[in-house]
Amino acid sequence: MNILSSICYGGDYNPEQWPEKIWYEDARLMQRAGVNLVSLGIFSWGKIEPSDGVFDFGWLDKVIDILYDHGVYINLGTATATTPAWFVKKYPDSLPIDESGVILSFGSRQHYCPNHPQLIMHMKRLVRAIAERYKKHPALKMWHVNNEYACHVSRCFCENCAVAFRKWLKERYKTIDELNERWGTNFWGQRYNNWDEINPPRKVPTFINPSQELDYYRFMNDSILKLFLREREILREVTPDIPISTNFMGPFKPLNYFQWAQYVDIVTWDSYPDPREGLPIQHAMMNDLMRSLRKGQPFILMEQVTSHVNWRDINVPKPPGVMRLWSYATIARGADGIMFFQWRQSRAGAEKFHGAMVPHFLNENNRIYTEVTELGKELKKLGCLVGSRIKAEVAIIFDWENWWAVELGSKPHNKLKYISIVESYYKELYKRNIAVDFVRPSDDLTKYKVVIAPMLYMVKEGEDENLRQFVANGGTLLVSFFSGIVDENDRVYLGGYPGPLRDILGIFVEEFVPYPEIKVNKIYSNDGEYDCTKWADIIHLDGAEPLAAFKGDWYAGLPAVTRNCYGKGEGIYVGTHPNSNYLGRLLEQVFAKHHINPALEVVENVEMQQRETDEWKYLIIINHNDYEVTVSLPKDKTYQNMIDGKCFRGGELRIQGVDVAVLRERDEAGKLESLSKFFG
Ligand code: GLA
Ligand code: GLA
Repeated sequence: MNILSSICYGGDYNPEQWPEKIWYEDARLMQRAGVNLVSLGIFSWGKIEPSDGVFDFGWLDKVIDILYDHGVYINLGTATATTPAWFVKKYPDSLPIDESGVILSFGSRQHYCPNHPQLIMHMKRLVRAIAERYKKHPALKMWHVNNEYACHVSRCFCENCAVAFRKWLKERYKTIDELNERWGTNFWGQRYNNWDEINPPRKVPTFINPSQELDYYRFMNDSILKLFLREREILREVTPDIPISTNFMGPFKPLNYFQWAQYVDIVTWDSYPDPREGLPIQHAMMNDLMRSLRKGQPFILMEQVTSHVNWRDINVPKPPGVMRLWSYATIARGADGIMFFQWRQSRAGAEKFHGAMVPHFLNENNRIYTEVTELGKELKKLGCLVGSRIKAEVAIIFDWENWWAVELGSKPHNKLKYISIVESYYKELYKRNIAVDFVRPSDDLTKYKVVIAPMLYMVKEGEDENLRQFVANGGTLLVSFFSGIVDENDRVYLGGYPGPLRDILGIFVEEFVPYPEIKVNKIYSNDGEYDCTKWADIIHLDGAEPLAAFKGDWYAGLPAVTRNCYGKGEGIYVGTHPNSNYLGRLLEQVFAKHHINPALEVVENVEMQQRETDEWKYLIIINHNDYEVTVSLPKDKTYQNMIDGKCFRGGELRIQGVDVAVLRERDEAGKLESLSKFFG
């Protein structure tokens, strides 16, 4: 699914905020900056349909023509992200209602209930009108449906939603008795006799039924997905050949992106790492996750910022070179497009202090626009990367339903965050430049050698069998504490944790010992002692051998980490949260056993990933340090630096601080000459 033959480069463009003469200036500046794609019309509903059923496309026709004349293609918004003021006046009950019954009013954006019948009717009419208008325009390359679904309003609790929720439950559970059983409603006298007694999990006196809340996550995700699917259906019918996407948000809990990704033609996502955090590890993790949503198909970074955002407490800019560096870090993990929010910095409105490709102060030599232009020029040379893929032998399990369930309240430890536990494992792969995919517990695991399951609290029917087969066939499965606890309705597996994973891991856990935040214990293994925090399991061996044991507390000497041979593989259980030294060492042993190695020897804070086509291997090396480093390339290989075009034989390669190398590799040293000839 290549949108363009070169790397997509551009951003959100909001010409309705500017007079017409600026449109020409914008197009000229875009062309100069190497922009080839812009996202247009995302918030333009009220401008396109100024009153009910009256459409005005004149301004948009003109903008699209001007851009096309300057070589800029369009990722056309379906304009449904903000319902217009006239619509809200006419249908005040389209406004969403929060769990306390508060109505969210007009005056920002995304103020709509996903189950409002007239909203759906009006959205469909608008989308059809836009699609019909531009279906033949040669500038149209892609559809940008709505915008960051659920970003601000991920749950509505209004009466329309209550009715739809009851219908959804009836389809899922068929009988009220089944629902009572799944939700455990005999607890606290919550039994229902009729479907119409059931409500969304609105504000209640104390802890809400967790199974009810979990199903509301599912229901809201489905409701919002349905909105997207309604638009998609129209777009597919009117423009069968134009790819459809909607911009995801990476670590966004309310939407199950694995489910959504089946319905987009290409994954696109928005990322705003905070420069204060240093190494953008979570950004890398999310790039890997977003790439994994459609099984490794390259994605587009639909929004990032050139410098600073406006919505943090303190909005620190990216220092010179960092925007470029992080753009390459994104390409290294599978992006075929680097786009920004937004093209021209707004003069008014809530985002006027948000960075842009063209800042408030523009002379053509200013830092931001210069960096944008230089990157645009460089990316033009990297069209060869488009469509290339990453090969990973390690996978981390990531499951949205598990995320919802494990962070519902009234748990042994209510400060555990799924993302951060996942990240503590991911970080060890990141530091070692080991390629990794993310998978669901039910996905095909046959191409992986190692699968890591951090805090897999919920194990749904059939998932244990999938993991069992993976291990039986020779894989290493590494499972962390607080896994295998509940079924799909948040009902506990009895008879010892981790429930259905017990046989694979050869243990059972009898009790949990959550740690206060300041508590640090130690675990010891045959090569030393390591700190552990957050949690301890009281583990009984049932076939497994201990790899490490607790040093302190009333369970001193009991196993903390175990290993079990199962079939041709092994199940490793980590019954605490060991520090990075221990986790890194444990994973290194596992990787050594499976001969899993990074593409090059690791240098600190230097990120390297490999993208491949059938013919070529590309090494992308990113030096996050502010000083020069040397990396060692195999001497028997030849390379071409795709940025400056030079060909050279392997050996030591120096990379400046805050700089990158994009290298094309060929195995046979003898090909150097022919390579040079080929590239002139
Ligand atoms: C999101 C939205 C954009 C804009 C940016 C600002 O990504 O999609 O419209 O608000 O945030 O960071
Ligand atoms: C109170 C309630 C009980 C139970 C306990 C739990 O005492 O009366 O029903 O909820 O708290 O600590």
